[in-house]
Amino acid sequence: MRQTRVVVVGSANMDLVATAATLPRPGETVLGTDFVTVPGGKGANQAVAAVRAGAACTFLGAIGSDSFGVTLRARITAAGVDTGQLRVVYGTSGVALVMVNADGENLITVTPGANGSFTGLTPEELAAVRDADVLVTQLEVPVETVTEAAVAARAAGTRVILNAAPARPVPAELLDAVDVLVVNETEAQALTGHGREDPHALLALVPRAVLTLGGEGAWYGDRDGTAVHVPAVRVEVVDSTAAGDAFTAALAVAWGEGRDLLDAVRWAAAAGAACCRRLGASVALPRRHEIDELYAPA
Ligand code: RIB
Repeated sequence: MRQTRVVVVGSANMDLVATAATLPRPGETVLGTDFVTVPGGKGANQAVAAVRAGAACTFLGAIGSDSFGVTLRARITAAGVDTGQLRVVYGTSGVALVMVNADGENLITVTPGANGSFTGLTPEELAAVRDADVLVTQLEVPVETVTEAAVAARAAGTRVILNAAPARPVPAELLDAVDVLVVNETEAQALTGHGREDPHALLALVPRAVLTLGGEGAWYGDRDGTAVHVPAVRVEVVDSTAAGDAFTAALAVAWGEGRDLLDAVRWAAAAGAACCRRLGASVALPRRHEIDELYAPA
């Protein structure tokens, strides 16, 4: 089996994570229990997750010139991701304020920092996109950049997986270049006006779609008539942060290795569940053997 080559175009953030029994409501202060600073960002998480799942991965994005940027580069590189083209932008890195409750649920606010300056892909960055088997991308960097990468990938025969997170408008030019869309219910609502009651609405936008349903698994559908609910893999949830990133990366790796998409979704569900067993984003992303241990074939 040939190793899948994944390129991720996306964000890197430093996650400032506080845990508390309950999440605060607007205007409320709650006493927390723990605090950790962990590299995160949907793009960087997906790149690290792809390597841990067995792929070779290049990460294209931007970090700031601050100390968070230094740590982000060091940690992403140490994880085995090719960061040779990672840009450094004068100013602050992306930061995510993450609050996690006792059930492992989270609230996240991201300030984009350098991620917001990641525009106008260079010829070298576009070459990395074209050389990959699969492009994985999300919406924490400017949508124009995501679109540019996806259009270049599509033209070169690189498969395109868009994790349309966080929820924001997606231009038709981008959707037209997508092979597989991965969204949660909030993001599906934003794109189609429908959640789990009508996941088929996603297929009006893209040829293949995955709707992740948290503790209830995922739905996979395509325009060839497949529509399957994949059950959740049961684990003790500590923190669901980055579960969607682990899911998306594992999907890319498995599909790139030649597994059919439905089987890739089952393996991805195992990856998402495995990620929920530890606190924090990048540090919780599962290794291939952990995914295999939880994988439940049809
Ligand atoms: O998907 C989880 C990620 O979302 C966190 O690591 C945080 O940085 C935000 O980007």
